[in-house]
Amino acid sequence: MTQNIRIVGGKQLKGEVSISGAKNAVLKLMAAALLAKGESKIYNVPELTDVVIMLDVIKQLGAKTSYDKEEKSITIDATNLTSVKASYELVSRMRASFVVLGALVGRCKEAIVAMPGGCAIGERKVDFHIRGLEALGTNVKIENGYVHAKARKLVGNDIYLDIPSVGATENIMLASVLAEGATRIQNAAQEPEIIDLANFLNAMGADIIGAGTSEIVINGVKQDDLKPIEYTTIPDRIEAGTYMAAFVATRGKGIIKNIFPNHLTFYTSKLSKMGADIKLIDPTSIEVSCKKRLEAINIITQPYPGFPTDLQSMAMALATTADGVSIITESLYENRFMQVPELRKMGADIHQERNHALVKGVKNLTGANLRASDLRAGASLIIAALMANGVSTIDNIYHIDRGYELIEEKFRMIGADVVRFEQDDTATISQSKGNLSESQL
Ligand code: EPU
Repeated sequence: MTQNIRIVGGKQLKGEVSISGAKNAVLKLMAAALLAKGESKIYNVPELTDVVIMLDVIKQLGAKTSYDKEEKSITIDATNLTSVKASYELVSRMRASFVVLGALVGRCKEAIVAMPGGCAIGERKVDFHIRGLEALGTNVKIENGYVHAKARKLVGNDIYLDIPSVGATENIMLASVLAEGATRIQNAAQEPEIIDLANFLNAMGADIIGAGTSEIVINGVKQDDLKPIEYTTIPDRIEAGTYMAAFVATRGKGIIKNIFPNHLTFYTSKLSKMGADIKLIDPTSIEVSCKKRLEAINIITQPYPGFPTDLQSMAMALATTADGVSIITESLYENRFMQVPELRKMGADIHQERNHALVKGVKNLTGANLRASDLRAGASLIIAALMANGVSTIDNIYHIDRGYELIEEKFRMIGADVVRFEQDDTATISQSKGNLSESQL
């Protein structure tokens, strides 16, 4: 039974949304918890399928985990790791779990982790991860679909990344915390999630400087210097950007709480240029409204602090009814315009050539039966459906559940007409996704 959602468009959204912890930060913090012996506790953990999969990966390595639904926290006791192998069955379900590679190499000097392979949005190679580990003295072989990394000892080195890859920066940081001497990552990713990982590791006893800039220096420490910690995950900037788009799309007005507004500076400036009104209410809340027809916009996705690729599809949904022609260029992934054919079903006028899309604004979109092909493309269809005339259904929403906590509940709280139903029983509306159950821990 696949789960779908049905959205009646055209409702102006109003009210407050509270943003959950960042998926792309917490998954890496969970891997980082493997470095210290003892029990670490992470707060502000979103209830998402990806978090469940990561818990399974961590359990497979022998760490003990627990989840407190009320407190939104997880504990990871990594006192004893009994395996260095992360199986294909788990890594193939979520490529972000590949980050245990760096943590295992750091802690155990050995890791056997399934190669994640490509995914719907692109090839997503891991060559920089592997080259980075090799530079630290690891011998890396790829055999039977697994990356087998083994080191007698790890020694710090200078590592230059051809692209400021988020995952490669994270894997190298995790592996080098316990290396001898200093590791310098040049052209490092600068995303807020990288800073969060560095803050987490430093709180544990690591010595990392420069996170958030293009050069990160990791001075190796000893295993006994690392202690388990309690830590609160940063807010999810992509979830925040999605709700910002929803208020703008419906000409609504709302407050987005529990965010770090400076993580969204580029996106905010583009939405403002389109005609949205975005005000800082306090250090962790903004008010977003929009009264007029949007103006067309030009966007090129770039590594942070540029326009985030994860919000490109939301901007495209907005551009479909903006006044004029928008040009959207996706420069990170080869195949991140999966929303285009679905938006066309709703009447959008989009001409795509390779990684460029020309979006000619139409007067309005109309509801249609849509399919989510991946997480962010799926989320953009929700934005489009909210602004469309009539009813839309979106299937394959398990993609969306990977990254948005309690999505239909949150949208309903701000006035959207959204219901979840199962494919063969349109009358059964689930009350909650309930992704994390005790049995899954
Ligand atoms: N790349 C390589 N070789 C490598 C590593 C990356 O060629 O060894 C390329 C990739 O193929 C891609 C580009 O570099 O074209 C950027 O990839 P990066 O490594 O920065 O991305 P990632 O770590 O795999 C994370 C997020 C993505 C987000 C990107 C960019 C997680 C779990 N995922 O992916 O989030 O789009 O950074 O910001 O942190 C999402 O949440 O929907 C999502 C896809």
